[in-house]
Amino acid sequence: MRAIIIEHTGGPEALRLADVPTPEPGPGQVLIRVACAGVNPADWKDREGMLAMYAPYHFPYIVGFDAAGVVERVGAGVDKPRPGDRVFTPGNHGQGAWGSYAEFMVANADRTATIPPSMSFAAAASIPVAALTGWQALFDRGGLQAGQRIMIHGGSGGLGSFAVQFARWAGARVAATCGTANVDYVRGLGAENVVDHRRDDIAAAIRAWAPDGLDLLVDAVGASTLPVGLGMVRPGGAYVSIPTLTDDGDIEASFAAAAARQVRRVFSTMSDVGCGRQLATIAGLITDGHVTLPPMQTLPLEQAAEAHVLIQTRHVRGKIVLNVAEF
Ligand SMILES: NC(=O)c1ccc[n+]([C@@H]2O[C@H](COP(=O)([O-])OP(=O)(O)OC[C@H]3O[C@@H](n4cnc5c(N)ncnc54)[C@H](OP(=O)(O)O)[C@@H]3O)[C@@H](O)[C@H]2O)c1
Repeated sequence: MRAIIIEHTGGPEALRLADVPTPEPGPGQVLIRVACAGVNPADWKDREGMLAMYAPYHFPYIVGFDAAGVVERVGAGVDKPRPGDRVFTPGNHGQGAWGSYAEFMVANADRTATIPPSMSFAAAASIPVAALTGWQALFDRGGLQAGQRIMIHGGSGGLGSFAVQFARWAGARVAATCGTANVDYVRGLGAENVVDHRRDDIAAAIRAWAPDGLDLLVDAVGASTLPVGLGMVRPGGAYVSIPTLTDDGDIEASFAAAAARQVRRVFSTMSDVGCGRQLATIAGLITDGHVTLPPMQTLPLEQAAEAHVLIQTRHVRGKIVLNVAEF
């Protein structure tokens, strides 16, 4: 199969097109013919070798989590999805399996969800990691309740674009940070208080809006960009950080400081175990019009290196998707 591989970790130039054997689905797995692969910041960190703590690197190695395509074959014990079904998934790359920048990818069947008929492959490929991570941070880890005042730090990115809308749908009152160019965009997502991280004093803006402190803060950017985070959360509230691998601060010290202030401190990594059901729920919110897909830039698979240069700027509005094959 055609794939973008790396034979060593490194910069974007390490990505190259190659022919490699097509993987086989094991028991409980499906083989997906990939139409589109979603690009996430995790992909460039993966390319640079930062994901070694999760699974060892064996070369050639294929990066990429998110995929949308058609089930080609199923392994033993799989009755759903069936060959020919349109599915999307974050795949099994988190456990070291080859990733989605390829014509075929293997995924556990219970990590897949059906793509609604009205949704394109590109749209579906833009969803899994960003939306699942946002969903789990808000609901599974953050315990978000209707009526709460919350803030999403990084509201214009892939994750934040989903998280702002999920929180609004759940009845929360939402503040979100973003850069100057994205203020109108993030307001359009439903944030009632948009704080420009380039111009505004974030802590002062939130103090004026939520004088008792936030019920929930989700940081999807990094510790160094929000040194005042803990002080913005009310005692009894929750402070959830999405681990970035590049800017997570002193995690132990952060737990201790939060405990002293009676704030529940969580570092929320995406869980892909059995995530098909959450993906199906999210797809339903999109088709029902509760959540709008973030804007998307598409590039051909061959331009994976350009996609990495873009995502590595940390200032892409919405999502980048690679077109792998047309069918
Ligand atoms: N551990 C996990 O399981 C997991 C899962 C998913 C994501 N993540 C991590 O979560 C982070 C966000 O992911 P993403 O997909 O949303 O990334 P993204 O699409 O690249 O978005 C980055 C966001 O960060 C904002 N930003 C950049 N510099 C900033 C600064 N100095 N102050 C405030 N905001 C700033 C950008 O806003 P403007 O452009 O408007 O400035 C943008 O909203 C990444 O580090 C990613 O690796 C981790």
